[in-house]
Amino acid sequence: MGKLVICDHPLIQHKLTFIRDVRTNTKEFREHVDEVATLMAYEITRDIPLETITVQTPVAETQGKVISGRMLGLIPILRAGLGMLEGVLKLLPAAKVGHVGLFRDPETLQPVEYYIKLPTDVQQRELIVIDPMLATGGSAIAAITSLKNRGCTQIKMMNLIAAPEGVAAVQEAHPDVDIYVAALDDHLNDHGYIVPGLGDAGDRLYGTK
Ligand code: URA
Repeated sequence: MGKLVICDHPLIQHKLTFIRDVRTNTKEFREHVDEVATLMAYEITRDIPLETITVQTPVAETQGKVISGRMLGLIPILRAGLGMLEGVLKLLPAAKVGHVGLFRDPETLQPVEYYIKLPTDVQQRELIVIDPMLATGGSAIAAITSLKNRGCTQIKMMNLIAAPEGVAAVQEAHPDVDIYVAALDDHLNDHGYIVPGLGDAGDRLYGTK
């Protein structure tokens, strides 16, 4: 079973409260989401492997640690995932970025992939799938399945807010995927919104409501 990590650093929790607040305007919302994404990138990379190398300081030779292992890939799910992308890239500027676009078929209610563009070496990378809201888990499961169908094996998920229903669904469909969230909320309502949540993340990021 993949682990669920709640990134409860005080700075993340502080900013998340303003993100939730209905009075927060589009500009402030975008800025706070960007900042939380950067802080979450710090948490999600906590276990990446290091190797020891030797460097010469102006004074003496010494040993230091540098990042080793797989290079990273960031996979924002369109469109709300884009709101967290730049914040993550601030800490991981060498990461390559792939995009996945999904919409929900109004009849089957199943996610349908309408766009995918991935780095050519995506199979060699450790991937972070980014979406602010993990609600039913439908989009996340479809995006991860699509990546696995293309040979990707190391995948993590990053969300601002998750519903227990979405976490359970992703953990069942993809037990190898660890999920990093800033908050685990109470439940989904009848319209598929996370309660208490923050409303529609895409609309609040882009002012489209
Ligand atoms: N997507 C959103 O943007 N908000 C929710 O509450 C659920 C899904």
